[in-house]
Amino acid sequence: MSVLMNDAAVIQRILDHAAARTTDLGDAAWREPVENYRSEARFAEEMELMKRLPMVYCPSAALPDVGSYVARTLVGAPLVVVRGEDGVARGFHNACRHRGMILAEGEGNARSLICRYHAWAYGLDGSLRFIPGTEGFPELDRAAHGLVPVRTEERGGLVFVTLKEPVSQGALEGMPDLIAPGQAVFEYSSFTDDANWKLLLETAMEGYHIKALHGKSFYPYGYDNLNVVETYANNSRIVFPFRRIEKLRDMPVAERRADGMLTYVYHLFPNTRLAILSNHYLLVILEPVSVSVSRWVIYRLRPPGMESAGNDLEKAKRDAAFVRDNGVVEDREAACAIQRGLAGEGNTHFTFGRFEKAAVHFHQSLRAHLDSLAGLLDGGAPARPGEPGLA
Ligand code: FES
Ligand SMILES: [Fe+2]
Repeated sequence: MSVLMNDAAVIQRILDHAAARTTDLGDAAWREPVENYRSEARFAEEMELMKRLPMVYCPSAALPDVGSYVARTLVGAPLVVVRGEDGVARGFHNACRHRGMILAEGEGNARSLICRYHAWAYGLDGSLRFIPGTEGFPELDRAAHGLVPVRTEERGGLVFVTLKEPVSQGALEGMPDLIAPGQAVFEYSSFTDDANWKLLLETAMEGYHIKALHGKSFYPYGYDNLNVVETYANNSRIVFPFRRIEKLRDMPVAERRADGMLTYVYHLFPNTRLAILSNHYLLVILEPVSVSVSRWVIYRLRPPGMESAGNDLEKAKRDAAFVRDNGVVEDREAACAIQRGLAGEGNTHFTFGRFEKAAVHFHQSLRAHLDSLAGLLDGGAPARPGEPGLA
């Protein structure tokens, strides 16, 4: 059972807020030290934490068939995730076991993964299947030279990868099923911005900036600072209503439909969000590159029930282009402008108010996770690097 409110309850709460000119509020404001956005040491701690959390890698729909693969960097590690002959998605370090060549780039479909350097070949399950000129490697233990796996699981239409022993369930705790089978990916894009990953993430965690920042894009259709904000485990869900939701006020509760009246934005701890828009789903993963650079990994999916091509897909693409070229551009510019400001000494901390409840929850979860990781690492054995030797 989801702990989140159902559509009917959400709609009523929005209508009540609209009538009273109120919004959901958090319990208290939060002061976040500015140093946490620009310190290399803090960034290294966050990277270490992310290696120990289930991280969203891609939607299940990005791996539609046997042999479908997606290669990308996750928390700094080049990986490839491939769907096996048994239908299971498996992740591996994207490095040939001969001399380390990257095996797969981008996405595609393959019957096996063949290294383009000396053509060692691996099965979809990562096993080493073929070595040209085996006489050159008389002692090699093939079974010990399969691709190195990473913990991979699929839940609710998403593929998660955990690089090291996890410190918590992260986003998976209490997460509802978010993407239905059959929701195909219709667009993928990836680019970098000069901003800390948290600054980019925070732009979609409150509606307090809708009028000021999105005056000509979202504000003509949506309310300023009117949101339903729910937090659950490490995650949150923020509802951004459209003004046309007023049409539902005089309608019997049983007949009210949320579709086209509001946008749900799920934050999946720590670095992912899923926006459920009128005609498409927008999955955004913010991959940290450095303390001041982040890579956006974006998948746009058809909504449930829109399996056929044609007009519906055109509608989804139009919707996607509007969000991308207007509101999201404004959010990206804002995050990059904050990043530029970090170079000065204008602030020792940022203040998140009670309207910014989801961002406060995010920082509290992150703080708690970093504290427990520090405790774990203090008590744990030091990591031993691998030693060179004969195969
Ligand atoms: S590095 Fe891959 S086969 Fe040589
Ligand atoms: Fe925004």
